[in-house]
Amino acid sequence: MGHLDRIIAATLPFVPKPIVRRVAGRYIAGETVDEALTVAAELNRRGIRATLDILGEDTHNIDQAGRAVNDYQQLLEEIHRRKLDANVSIKLTQLGLKVDARTCLEWTSALVRRAKELNNFVRIDMEDSSCTTGTLEIYRSLRREHSNVGVVIQAYLRRTVDDVVGLEDLRPNYRLCKGVYTEPREIAYHDMRAINRNYVYVLEKLLRNGSYVGIATHDELIVWEALRLIRDLKLPPSAYEFQMLLGVDEQLRNIILEAGHNLRVYIPFGRDWYAYSVRRLRENPRLAGYVLRAMLK
Ligand code: FDA
Repeated sequence: MGHLDRIIAATLPFVPKPIVRRVAGRYIAGETVDEALTVAAELNRRGIRATLDILGEDTHNIDQAGRAVNDYQQLLEEIHRRKLDANVSIKLTQLGLKVDARTCLEWTSALVRRAKELNNFVRIDMEDSSCTTGTLEIYRSLRREHSNVGVVIQAYLRRTVDDVVGLEDLRPNYRLCKGVYTEPREIAYHDMRAINRNYVYVLEKLLRNGSYVGIATHDELIVWEALRLIRDLKLPPSAYEFQMLLGVDEQLRNIILEAGHNLRVYIPFGRDWYAYSVRRLRENPRLAGYVLRAMLK
């Protein structure tokens, strides 16, 4: 990321929301279920799986959390009705983690049960480090009853290797990503080389332990390392998949797909687009150009 891009990234909170919306448009499928499922269907036609995220997080109101659970139930029904190759990705703070963890567990369990009846799967996204312990506890509780639920772990966290070892008995279905939240250095590696090495270290551990891994990255070097491990460990395509975000590096997506690997695209949609958009824009190496062009228009 260049100097100007970094300055724009730091000042994003001051950029008018309509500009953020326009520049981040590529990362979001739209506001409605229908728009999101149309994108999923188009990806399916090209042999790409989907995971759908109803945007929203950090709910401090239990009624709002209940509505989010209902929205996800309906989304699962609609995915089933349209016979899509798509699962759902949820954020526990959207389902009430910070208001009432017990209720959050009950509701998530009901959602996972319904997903099971519909032959589907629920992925629990990982949020900032204040949620890591709570999210992993809920995941462990859910696994007592359900097998169709997976969780995300973040390579930038110093604790991740220990978390992975602690969960080894469950052989979890993981998504492994670098991690996107701003964390203090005591909690997360800030040096990108350390994050990348930890990513590969953890990935190897998970694959050797027989976990199914969603290898979530757009980093060509990490993709190369993953392909090396897949080859060395002689893993079949049923042991892993690559995962990428909507609107990021479609060329790399096609290269992975054409080499015969399974690939899933993360499709966020909904009205609560702002926080997600800012996180994505901060990672865009051409951010400044996009924002300045949008402002001139
Ligand atoms: P890196 O950030 O080094 O990017 C590699 C290259 O990809 C860049 O040089 C650039 O070319 C390109 N790129 C990356 N982001 C871009 C963008 N927004 N726009 C344009 N180009 C971009 N995080 C988290 O904390 N919790 C979670 O639950 C998830 N879930 C998740 C699901 C999926 C499917 C993916 C792919 C990612 C996540 N993440 C996440 C986000 C993840 O932690 C990370 O922040 C981003 O994927 C960027 O990391 P990369 O591995 O792509 O490397």
